[in-house]
Amino acid sequence: MITDEPSLFEITSPGACAVSLPESDVPRVDPRKVIPADLLAAGPPALPEIGELDLVRHFVSLAHRLFSIDQHFYPLGSCTMKYNPRVNERAAALSGVADLHPHQPDADAQGLLEMLYRLRVWLAEIAGLAEVTLQPAAGAHGEMTGLLIIQAWHRDHGRHRTKVLTPDTAHGTNPASCVMCGGRLLTVKARPDGRVDLDDLRAKVDEDTAALMITNPNTVGIYDDQIADIAAIVHERGAQVYLDGANLNAILGITRPGDVGADVMHFNTHKTFSTPHGCGGPGAGPVAVAEHLRDYLPVPQVVRRADGTYGWDHVRPKSIGRVRSYFGQTGVLVRAYAYIRSLGGDGLTRVAERAVLAANYVAARIKDRYPLPFPGPYAHEFITVPDFESLGIREVDFAKRLLDYDIHPPTMSWPVQHCLMIEPTETESKRTLDRFCDVLLAMADEARDNPDLLRTAPHTMPVGRLDEVAANRKPVVRWRAGTA
Ligand SMILES: Cc1ncc(COP(=O)(O)O)c(C=O)c1O
Repeated sequence: MITDEPSLFEITSPGACAVSLPESDVPRVDPRKVIPADLLAAGPPALPEIGELDLVRHFVSLAHRLFSIDQHFYPLGSCTMKYNPRVNERAAALSGVADLHPHQPDADAQGLLEMLYRLRVWLAEIAGLAEVTLQPAAGAHGEMTGLLIIQAWHRDHGRHRTKVLTPDTAHGTNPASCVMCGGRLLTVKARPDGRVDLDDLRAKVDEDTAALMITNPNTVGIYDDQIADIAAIVHERGAQVYLDGANLNAILGITRPGDVGADVMHFNTHKTFSTPHGCGGPGAGPVAVAEHLRDYLPVPQVVRRADGTYGWDHVRPKSIGRVRSYFGQTGVLVRAYAYIRSLGGDGLTRVAERAVLAANYVAARIKDRYPLPFPGPYAHEFITVPDFESLGIREVDFAKRLLDYDIHPPTMSWPVQHCLMIEPTETESKRTLDRFCDVLLAMADEARDNPDLLRTAPHTMPVGRLDEVAANRKPVVRWRAGTA
C-alpha cells in the first residue's frame, strides 16, 4: 500500500460487526441444497469484520486524503470544475426520481417526465436550435450522435459525404468522434490569435465535406467571433456546422450557437450545468439540432401530449435510432434541470459573465510572469506556456508543487505542449482567485530561486512523488493478502 491507512482486510477483527440487525425471520435453508457443491467447497469468502466506529474512521480518513472541489480550488482547464449546489443533489435523490424503475409505467413517472421535457425545451432555447435529445451519456457521445444525424440527413438527400473538417483548436474528442463515425478527418489551420484561418477553411471545404466540427469557445480559451462567416462558408458547400458546445459556460445567455449558424451542437451538462464529474463521468451530452434535422433525432423522445400528460414518442421513421439504453443519464439530467431552474435566464447569463471575468482577471494578474501565447480577451479559460525548460523544471514539477498550496493543478501540456490551461469558473470568490494568483507569482520565484523545491514536490501530501509511468502501465488496483 502506498498510504499508511491499512485496508479493511488488515484491520479485520473476527466477530466484529458494523451493523446490528434484528434476528432473521426467514427460515434457515440447508446451504447444500441451494448452493452448488464446488462453490461451497471454497468456504465462506474472507470478508473483513469491522466495528462501526473503525469503519467510519477508515473511510473518513481516506476521504480526507482526497482532492475535491468541496475542499480545494480546481482550475482544471477544459473541465469547468464549478461548485455543484447541494440542492441539485437533493432533487436527484428524491424518491420520485431515484427510486423509479426504467420500466415504470409513464403514468407513475409524470413528475420526472415533465422535468425531462422541460429540460429539453430549455436547452433548445439556450442553444437557439429547434429540438434536443437528452439521450447521449457524455459530450463525446453527443458528438457521435450529432455526426450520425448529419450523416443520416446527407444520406436522405442522396449525398454520400465522407470528409469532416476540424480546426486544430478543436477538443480532442472531435476528431475521435469523426473517425468513430467512419469520417475522413481534415484539419483546418488556426491563425496565431487562435481563430480559424478562413482562407484555409475555404480551400478545404468542398462537395465531399459532411460537416465542420468547431469547438467554440475553443480549447485555447478564445471565442471565435467569425463563427457566422465560418458557418456561411460551410453552408455554401452544402455541409453542416457541428458546434461543440461543451464550453458553453462562457457564452450562456450571451449568444446562441443556433443564431450564428450552428446546425447541431452538444452540451456537456457535467460542465455547464453543474453536475459533479471527474474520472470520466458521470455525465450527459444532450444534442440540439436545427429544424431540418429534427426527423433524425434518436428515439424515444420525451413529449407532452395534447391532454397535458407526458410520455415517450417512439415513432420517428427517419430517426438514427437509440444511442443509449432507456432514456439517458436521468439523475444527471435532473441535476441540470434543478440548476437551470434555480438560476433562471438572468442567472445563467451572470454565470457566463462571471466565468469570463474570472479567467480574464487571473490572466491579467499573472501575465508579467506567465507568457500568454494567445492574446485575450479570453472566454472561460486561457493557456500560458511558462518557460519551464530554462528553469530546469518540467510542468509536472510545477503541478506537484501547487498541491502543496492546496490547489489542484491546471490541465497540462494540452492543447499546446508544455502549457498550463487555467479555467477558474464563476463559482470561485475573488479571494480564492487572488490567493491562486499570489501562489502562482510566488511559485515563479520559487522555480527561479529553488527549483529543487519543485522537482521534489509535493511535500505536504499523504503520498510524495509517485512513479506515474509505472502507475499507468502497471496499475495495482486490487489488494491481495501479503502484498501490503
Ligand atoms: C470542449 C469539449 N468537448 C468535448 C468534451 C468531451 O466530453 P466528455 O468528456 O463528456 O465525453 C469535453 C470534455 O471535457 C470538452 O471540454
